[in-house]
Order: sequence, then structure tokens, then C-alpha cells
Amino acid sequence: MSRAIGSKYQIETSKEAQEYFEFVKDLLDSDVVKQMKNFRHHYSTTCYQHCLNVSYYNYLVCRKLGLDSKQAARAGLLHDMFLYDWRERERRQGEKPHGMRHPEIALDNAKQNFDIKKREEDMIVKHMWPLTIKFPRYAESYVIVMIDKYTATLEIGSHISNVIKEKYKTLTKRRSYYS
Ligand SMILES: [Fe+2]
Ligand SMILES: [Fe+2]
Repeated sequence: MSRAIGSKYQIETSKEAQEYFEFVKDLLDSDVVKQMKNFRHHYSTTCYQHCLNVSYYNYLVCRKLGLDSKQAARAGLLHDMFLYDWRERERRQGEKPHGMRHPEIALDNAKQNFDIKKREEDMIVKHMWPLTIKFPRYAESYVIVMIDKYTATLEIGSHISNVIKEKYKTLTKRRSYYS
């Protein structure tokens, strides 16, 4: 079962997430998307979970704005499908840093596995804008630029809050032991 960070809806079973699930079901079922579960992205969040978070909120915001919510959902799920651990992979000579390079790698992987529409391509390859200098072409691409940063902030915030909770638990356990 999958759920976007901060959402109460299980995407496979909730009525509220039914349309979203229909849009991305084939991607979620594919081995290449599942491979993202093997790579850590922001602290304790995997690439898979991060892409699901971006995909779900990208879909919700684009639907609200009357934009293409299906392509928003699909591009969100594939936008970081670079399939390597960016902390461990050494930068080869002449290569751009990971932040600038990975949107193109994710797009190549997406194209090799799925039929990618022009709008989806723009969303995937420009999601790191303004780091990737070329301006986004579609309104949906500006949405993903913001949603990507928003979800990354939620993920980092959730990690920090878990660390603080754990520290607090250990501290109170120690106190009750000595009292
Ligand atoms: Fe990214
Ligand atoms: Fe991302």
C-alpha cells in the first residue's frame, strides 16, 4: 500500500485517490519504477516515495488549476527515476553535478520504458529549474518545480521530527531509569 507524505488516503484503495491511481497504475506496476525503492533520496525517504509524493501533489494542484493532471501525475512519478545512489556515485570527469544531470538521466530511463508525451518530457527535464537553465515551457512544469521543492521540504522536516522524537524517547527512558 502506498500513501503520499501528509495524505490520509491509500492510493490503491481510497475512493478519493481513485482517479489518481488510474492515471499511474501501469507505472506503479512496472519493475523499473519499483527499482526506485532501492535508492535513498532525502534522508530516510526513498526515491520511490519521493516520486510518489511529487506525483500525487502535482496531480492535485494541476487538477485544481485546470491543467493536465494526468500528465502531471505521470511525470511526477518518473521525474527522479535516475536509478543510482547519488551519495555514492562518483562524478566522472567532465560530468555535470548530480543536481543538474539527473533530470536528463531520469528522462532517458522514462523514455526507454514508457511512452512519454511532450509535456511530461518538459516536466521531467526542467523540474530542477532554475538549476537547469532552460525555462519551463508549460504551466505544469512550473507546478512541478514548486511541488518538488515543497515535498523535499516535507520529507526533510519529517526526518528531523523523527530524529527529535527518538532522542526525546531515549532521554525520558534514561531519566526514568535513574529516578
Ligand atoms: Fe530531482
Ligand atoms: Fe525530486
